[in-house]
Amino acid sequence: MSLNEFEHADVVLCPGGPLLLRGEHVIEDDKGGLHRTTRPVSAVCRCGKSAKQPWCDGTHKVIPERARP
Ligand code: FES
Repeated sequence: MSLNEFEHADVVLCPGGPLLLRGEHVIEDDKGGLHRTTRPVSAVCRCGKSAKQPWCDGTHKVIPERARP
């Protein structure tokens, strides 16, 4: 499957980094808390090290490569 030039994926997995969500979504964190997206594109942490869970704060860039998602 491929997207035409006018389409965008709704979910993008960034190698070694976050999951990008396009559009409106509700994220459930590991404690059952719900978080609504507020931006056109939201980055969800996949490394577990962000201080702003469930959102990515860029911390994945400074952790060892083998510990990245
Ligand atoms: S994926 Fe970016 S801080 Fe976790």
